Amino acid sequence: MKEISLLKQTLKALMQGQLRAAQDPHRPAWHLAAPVGLLNDPNGFIQFDGHFHLFYQWNPLACAHGAKFWGHWRSDDLIHWQHEPIALVPSEEYESHGCYSGSAVDNNGVLTLIYTGNVKFPEGRTAWQCLATLEEDGSCRKLGPVIALPDGYSGHVRDPKVWRHDDGQWYMVLGAQNLAGEGKVLLLRSADLHNWQLLGEIAGSQLNGLGEFGYMWECPDLFRLGDRDILIACPQGLAPQQTRWLNTFQSGYFIGELDYQQARFAHGEFHELDLGFEFYAPQTTASSDGRRLLFGWMGIPDGDEFYQPTLAYGWIHQMTCPRELSLEEGRLHQRPARELQQLRRSPQTWQGAAHQLAPLDISSAELLIQPEGALTLHFADALCLSWNGEQLRLSRRNPRSGLEEHRYWHGSLAQLHIFCDRSSVEIFINDGEAVMSSRYFPSAAPQLRLTDETQVNLHYWRLEDGVIV
Ligand code: FRU
Repeated sequence: MKEISLLKQTLKALMQGQLRAAQDPHRPAWHLAAPVGLLNDPNGFIQFDGHFHLFYQWNPLACAHGAKFWGHWRSDDLIHWQHEPIALVPSEEYESHGCYSGSAVDNNGVLTLIYTGNVKFPEGRTAWQCLATLEEDGSCRKLGPVIALPDGYSGHVRDPKVWRHDDGQWYMVLGAQNLAGEGKVLLLRSADLHNWQLLGEIAGSQLNGLGEFGYMWECPDLFRLGDRDILIACPQGLAPQQTRWLNTFQSGYFIGELDYQQARFAHGEFHELDLGFEFYAPQTTASSDGRRLLFGWMGIPDGDEFYQPTLAYGWIHQMTCPRELSLEEGRLHQRPARELQQLRRSPQTWQGAAHQLAPLDISSAELLIQPEGALTLHFADALCLSWNGEQLRLSRRNPRSGLEEHRYWHGSLAQLHIFCDRSSVEIFINDGEAVMSSRYFPSAAPQLRLTDETQVNLHYWRLEDGVIV
């Protein structure tokens, strides 16, 4: 049986590779990363029966994209996670080239996964949207495909995100490409998760006044926040502009109003969710205390990812920290999930001229910085953040070309809230107004140095290690 053979290969990869991966100095201390192999999108994020579940796109057999599995972690507090049995193995014909991204719902007490069965042929590909349920022993039972490729679309139809609306019906947003090569988001409805009706396209290239807006939209997500509907999507094929849309693929959101009956989504402009070098394919869920939580993949699917040095240790990529979303003054704000405060140790505060600060250990640390004027932060020898009074610029050398590359934010800076974990930084600007997430690969235990004369106010915490058991 293919499933047994894949599981045996996975076991071998884990037995051979796990110790080596754990010894990598770039391995995160408290972010989620796969034990070996390649991790990408967060999947099936849900709080169910009191526990958080986070599944993930995983190739345990190589640091390469390919026939993806679903890995599975569970947590009571979003911070301390435990491994669960591998959820999905691409063993069936309808998922021969990967159990691709999808979501989870609570179907009357049954945790149900909806994912894409990706199938490639010598010429072309197709996709099935499939169901599986989580069983008592932590394994998943596949129920097979429930949606075939809809007419009028290429084989690129994937990443179902499902929720139950007030009318008691299930709704799904699905990423798609039509036969003209335009990226779209489809809306579907079902009474039982098995029989689905395609209601129409609610957003995409050449829709709602967007003009040409990419050849494929991946990983859509739709939810209510405050009194608006938010659509998250990852359009592929947007041309880079001077200071935005600079990553190979974008991940952003639209604010609008979804008309569930007419399947129309009137929305405003596209805003990037994160302005750093590595962020893609986020997924949200509602927590039982009413928050909208998000995990993103701290990676981008393009050629550059395979220049990351963790490859030598047999693993690649990590998740972002969990974040809380809110809608403030017509924009999404992201704050680090409040649970992260549990990791804080040895608080320090400091005030003075920036250049007088002794280098700070940022292997695993949280910082709050309020600068009075222009400031440059040097994250070891590998990443630099500079504020000139108008623009915040994040700079590093491109891992492939060795050339300097930059990412930008414009505005009026009051505060930087920074999370560092071995080979990553997440920079929250002005209490969640914007975020820059990036990997970086310092050559030794990383320290932060500040330059410039400006006065700064600084809070520092070391963060505790070891969150996956
Ligand atoms: C986004 C994505 C999804 C797909 C998955 C495959 O990163 O390309 O569209 O389902 O990754 O791993």
